[in-house]
Amino acid sequence: MLSWSKYFQNPTYLELTRKHLISEELRPVILNYCGIHNEAKVLDVGCGTGYFSRFIAEGNKTAHVVGLEFEQSFIEYAQNEAKEKLLDIAFIQGDALHLPFEDESFDAVTSHTFLTSVSDTSKSLKEMMRVCKKGGTISSITAMSFVPSIFHNGYYNRECLWVVPLARLSDKMWRMYEAVNPIKNYMNSTASAEIPHLFAISGLKEICAYPIGKLFSLSNALISYEERVAYLDQTFESERQKLDTYLELKEAREFFSEEDAREYLTLLEQKHNYYKTHPMENEIWEWTGGANVLISGKRKE
Ligand SMILES: C[S@@+](CC[C@H](N)C(=O)[O-])C[C@H]1O[C@@H](n2cnc3c(N)ncnc32)[C@H](O)[C@@H]1O
Repeated sequence: MLSWSKYFQNPTYLELTRKHLISEELRPVILNYCGIHNEAKVLDVGCGTGYFSRFIAEGNKTAHVVGLEFEQSFIEYAQNEAKEKLLDIAFIQGDALHLPFEDESFDAVTSHTFLTSVSDTSKSLKEMMRVCKKGGTISSITAMSFVPSIFHNGYYNRECLWVVPLARLSDKMWRMYEAVNPIKNYMNSTASAEIPHLFAISGLKEICAYPIGKLFSLSNALISYEERVAYLDQTFESERQKLDTYLELKEAREFFSEEDAREYLTLLEQKHNYYKTHPMENEIWEWTGGANVLISGKRKE
């Protein structure tokens, strides 16, 4: 039984980390590479809370999108989110290693940050190919494992006394997550760099790689005050929930004490309050970045 939502990304956190991930201008190019034509039947494998399934459905209103995911809590979140956005997407609970679909059921089979997470990448890819029609497109978007995310700590006002202790505790907290993560066998099971090779040896043709850069800054003045506050509140809540879950584990408390957690949350709250009480002044300027790559290939006729 996977416990992705418990020990890595709970639904709120997963959604938050997908926000502003792909810039709007890239949507047509990405849908094209993923083989999403009009009326296409599309399967999005390992869809989580449905971010990429919605990205497809919003980009091509005629496509028939199905999202498949193992974790029921993600499925429920995905269904609610799609309903709220009036998107007609079917979300199904199931195992990507045994897809519950007939052979050749879909025109396109997509995956977003999934093939590097599933326990058996080759088997999952085989299943994606089985359910894809001949001539149809299989795709994978993943973070490039060997290009680390860039965390740029931009400019902070002198009043921001939380900056240094928060960075120190964040670092300690991440080391704890890495050391005790109960699902680490799922994460980075396969490096992104291996995916084109796996596509090739699986017999896919016309394999192409399309790089997608990502940069995100909450200091971006294009993000409204309301959006910023919602983002900060959700970040805080999901960080708190995740820490609570981890601190139930004795081995986690050896790396990060309950006192560390309290201090971390207090500092995080101070940072968030600063953002909220200095709206649109951009006194804090920080961003995160990274690189993703879309690999796609066609199933032979
Ligand atoms: C990094 S998340 C990506 C979720 C989503 N595609 C997105 O980009 O927001 C990886 C997802 O793969 C799911 N997963 C891992 N192994 C799976 C399997 N065997 N069957 C179905 N889903 C699986 C996890 O539960 C998790 O939701």
